[in-house]
Amino acid sequence: MRAVGGEGAILITGSTGFIGRHVTRRLYQAGRRVIALGRSQGGVSGTKRLKSLLGIPAGDNGVEMIESDLTQLDAGLGSSEVARLRANVQTVIHCAGDTSFFPRTTADSRAIFIAAPLALLKALLPGRLERWCQISTAFVCGRRGGAVFESEGAVGQKFHNPYEEIKLESEIALKEFCARLGIDLRILRPSVVIGPESSTQGGSPSNLLYQFIRLAAALSGRGKGAQLAVRIQGRPAAHFNIVPIEYVSAAIEVLSEQPAAAGGTFHLVVSQPPTQEAMLQMITSRLGANGLRLIDERREPMLGASSLENRVARMLSPYREYLEQDVSFDNSAARSLLGPAGITCSRLDEKTIDDLVAMALSQTCQRVPPPAAISPPSA
Ligand SMILES: NC(=O)c1ccc[n+]([C@@H]2O[C@H](COP(=O)([O-])OP(=O)(O)OC[C@H]3O[C@@H](n4cnc5c(N)ncnc54)[C@H](OP(=O)(O)O)[C@@H]3O)[C@@H](O)[C@H]2O)c1
Repeated sequence: MRAVGGEGAILITGSTGFIGRHVTRRLYQAGRRVIALGRSQGGVSGTKRLKSLLGIPAGDNGVEMIESDLTQLDAGLGSSEVARLRANVQTVIHCAGDTSFFPRTTADSRAIFIAAPLALLKALLPGRLERWCQISTAFVCGRRGGAVFESEGAVGQKFHNPYEEIKLESEIALKEFCARLGIDLRILRPSVVIGPESSTQGGSPSNLLYQFIRLAAALSGRGKGAQLAVRIQGRPAAHFNIVPIEYVSAAIEVLSEQPAAAGGTFHLVVSQPPTQEAMLQMITSRLGANGLRLIDERREPMLGASSLENRVARMLSPYREYLEQDVSFDNSAARSLLGPAGITCSRLDEKTIDDLVAMALSQTCQRVPPPAAISPPSA
């Protein structure tokens, strides 16, 4: 029995993506009625893809999947599908997106982040729809440094890339549209999400971190490697803003429907993130790799880089600017609602780091392509 009480269905876009699949799995396991929108790929139907990603047996109809390309007219939905969605969907969680920092065209990126949600919203009305939960990013703050608050949006910031700028445009467009239609809009802004390997673009930052951990492990195992001096450009004292997918998906589950979250904007981040230096130390101490050292080039120019140091720099280059940014995301609003629900992520604890290192060294992660293949860079 999937439908619980009088609750309407939850519609999830991007259910095959890095974040969407975790959210879909959680809601499915919680017994909620979930309708997923998704695409077929390489001749494999959206339903088959999703069931295989979630490990749902073929005969289990707990997650209903509707094939949909969100950038098509009416999201590629037929009139009977639209009627079914109008009659059932109370909440939408919009996880679909293109997380390339530099998309092929900005028009493509605007199509999926702005035009698609507005078109889907229009298609669902009139109907049972009450809430729209938009998965944005904490990096709508662009290049800002220092404290960034959940209430802040466009404050004249400069951006690292079109991705950040379009994500902010999307927040603004949805706010205006939902206010006009009387739809309760909730904006959820994760920082950099880390979780099990995903071949989708949204999994690229995770995959890169795993790759870095494997490199550190390889150095430690190389005889004298444990003592090799490798300098890495960054800001040792800056926050390292990653957040585990388990926390992000649990937070999305709660904040997408909790009445007190209505109309809110929430940073989904680790409350007290480690510094880059502390993060490096936590990783290398587990691996016995002692020679890796962060340097701030503003204070200590990186002269005479070795080939290994150049290799590490190339590997991290898609995220270089983020390693030079020191931003602190205030998450008071998220904490005030998630804490009482028992969902907390105050720091990256020992177990999280253990799991991260174990994951990186596991067989599954060995199949992640080398850095050069992780292109284009993504959120
Ligand atoms: N990953 C992060 O670290 C991170 C951090 C902060 C915010 N975010 C935000 O979180 C959201 C989800 O990101 P993610 O990491 O899950 O990305 P992802 O792994 O790349 O997944 C993107 C999803 O969007 C779907 N999609 C793309 N274009 C579509 C279209 N035209 N029609 C239907 N579906 C389409 C993809 O479907 P297919 O599987 O069919 O391609 C996939 O399911 C994005 O808005 C992103 O900006 C991500």
